[in-house]
Amino acid sequence: MNIIKLDAIGSTNTFLKELVSTRPVPNYTVVSAESQYNGRGQMGLKWVDEKGKNLLFSVLVKGELLEKMSGVCLNYCVSLAVLTVLMRYNLTKLKIKWPNDILSESNKISGILIENSWKKDAIKDAIIGIGINVNQLTFDSDLKQVTSMKTILGSDIDKGQLLLQIVDALKNEIENYKAGSFDALKSRYLKVLYKIEIPTMFKDSEDLIFLGKIVNVSNSGKLQIELNDGTIREFGIKEIQMLKKL
Ligand code: BTN
Repeated sequence: MNIIKLDAIGSTNTFLKELVSTRPVPNYTVVSAESQYNGRGQMGLKWVDEKGKNLLFSVLVKGELLEKMSGVCLNYCVSLAVLTVLMRYNLTKLKIKWPNDILSESNKISGILIENSWKKDAIKDAIIGIGINVNQLTFDSDLKQVTSMKTILGSDIDKGQLLLQIVDALKNEIENYKAGSFDALKSRYLKVLYKIEIPTMFKDSEDLIFLGKIVNVSNSGKLQIELNDGTIREFGIKEIQMLKKL
């Protein structure tokens, strides 16, 4: 595997993106860092880490491997790859919170930031950034509902081994998808989706709080929530927030 190990960097996603724009980079090239000073999360948020404690890396997957794969489909492959590997560590109650947070016991243990570049309507390159809370034990007080592997398992985890397993699982997911179907992939994703079919409180982009249950994800990747009266509303990532308790 082509792996570039860095000590500190702004963001492994940004570093890999810049590398790809300046020279040919082989498929599945990995950039990992011990620490990021400008780690990026979903929706423009920051991804903060304690130096040396967590797994922070980005993988390049090039378009020819993603033939006719949509962004939604790639997201399912990545989320399932991370979940599958974390399951081997006996972490409890692992779920995917739509679209791609990985939770254990309702606390976030991993975040994923996929940045695609497009050529017409096909993905040209995908930079898949993955952060896993591995050996960190204390978190900023403003970070709620967060956990790490060491918090749950009680001992240090080898980050190098974890990285190799995840890249391997990702390759498998992408290869298997080619031989399988979108429906089969999606049904595996829905089976492990956090709060599916469970009445939950949500807040929409107009700050309206309502009770509903997640019933599906549309083919374009929107979350489908069934309301009390049986109607189904669809939400994009910036349009909905799950509230903690009923
Ligand atoms: C999220 O849950 O908001 C996504 C977090 C993604 C964090 C990873 S860490 C490695 C890679 N580099 C970044 O700057 N972000 C991703």
